[in-house]
Amino acid sequence: MSHIVIQGGRRLEGTLTVQGAKNSVLPILAATILHPGRTTLRGCPRLSDVEASIRILRHLGCKAEWEGEELTVDASTLDRWDVPDHLMREMRSSVIFLGAILARMGWAELSHPGGCELGPRPIDLHLAALRQLGAQLREESGCLQCSAQCMEGREIVLSMPSVGATENAMLAACGAEGETVLVNAAREPEIGDLQAFLCGMGCRVRGAGSSTICVQGRRPTHDSVHTVMPDRIAAATYLAAAAAAGGEVELRRVSHGHLSTVTAALHAAGCQISGGEGQVALRSAGHLRSIGTVRTAPYPGFPTDAQAILMAALLRARGATVFVENIFENRYRHVDELCRMGADISVADRVAVVTGVPELCGAQVRCTDLRGGAALLGAGPAPPGGTPNGGVF
Ligand code: UD1
Repeated sequence: MSHIVIQGGRRLEGTLTVQGAKNSVLPILAATILHPGRTTLRGCPRLSDVEASIRILRHLGCKAEWEGEELTVDASTLDRWDVPDHLMREMRSSVIFLGAILARMGWAELSHPGGCELGPRPIDLHLAALRQLGAQLREESGCLQCSAQCMEGREIVLSMPSVGATENAMLAACGAEGETVLVNAAREPEIGDLQAFLCGMGCRVRGAGSSTICVQGRRPTHDSVHTVMPDRIAAATYLAAAAAAGGEVELRRVSHGHLSTVTAALHAAGCQISGGEGQVALRSAGHLRSIGTVRTAPYPGFPTDAQAILMAALLRARGATVFVENIFENRYRHVDELCRMGADISVADRVAVVTGVPELCGAQVRCTDLRGGAALLGAGPAPPGGTPNGGVF
């Protein structure tokens, strides 16, 4: 789909079931190759990044078959250890295959990953963790050659709690001898889902959700079935869109706890929120108030992935809200597009100040990155009347 046209001036009403989490399923797909057998993923979202992961799996020699929302990967036929440049460039998460291929094959060859442009996205922490496990790494013309005939478990201290580096180290550590202790690990819920997946196929991992994760080097022992956790960022997107436009939505298959910083912000902005077991409901009159300062931070702080969509919700709020983006250097690319819709936002370095305006207008805007694009869609229903020449491209 190259463009979406939104007719504005409508409330958002309805109930929906939240899909499986992108940020959870991608490392899990990489992890499937640890087991030379079959793995079934339930509630697997059909996203372009998932299809890109499947292309990598098939290139490596695995079989991958869909049955509805269930994806089965058979990695018993894996016979390669390289990922070609064009597959690596399709997404950032391709880098997680590095730890998994090393653990399974003892050798890996790939190039630097692609992904949304959010400023520099180095992989130095990933590589440092693998080196500490005993992997030998050589970089030549953008190509990484890694060998790890005998990785040994040990304490690895991450200088920042990078989600991807934590995942890469966890997967590599499954193929190492002895115990690996990851210190200052990321605490995102998706790390917990990866741990649950690994344990489900017989690996020994504990501590996810805390900043110390212990992995006993051990190959998976059996085929498994895993249900992918619900996507907390997709859920946040639906809530923020309803908050902006006004309306009433109920989300099913969500974890209220994983959304607490987002729902707290929407509540502070004047929305009514209620949550029960696996369910969250939001009611908004569409007239919100500003909420002071929102600072993105590693989990359990406010997620950087929800910064753009919350900003979109507050464009018409009374007063000014300040955003401080602490995770990525260049994550305000949606701002110029939102301003085309009549928003009043000024950016200086990592700080964006959003001053509420009475009305937005329809405009032709361009998706800059995944979450920035979601923000444009979230803001789209708010402008009154039709937007015949508008659209998100
Ligand atoms: C993951 C999520 C992404 C989310 C981000 C932060 C997936 C597929 N993506 O991305 O949606 O926005 O977490 O919650 O799960 N860094 C380094 N060196 C490294 C690695 C990271 O300096 O080797 C820096 C990054 O540039 C960034 C920060 O650490 O400033 C956080 O990045 P990280 O947590 O690694 O994000 P990703 O795993 O790429």
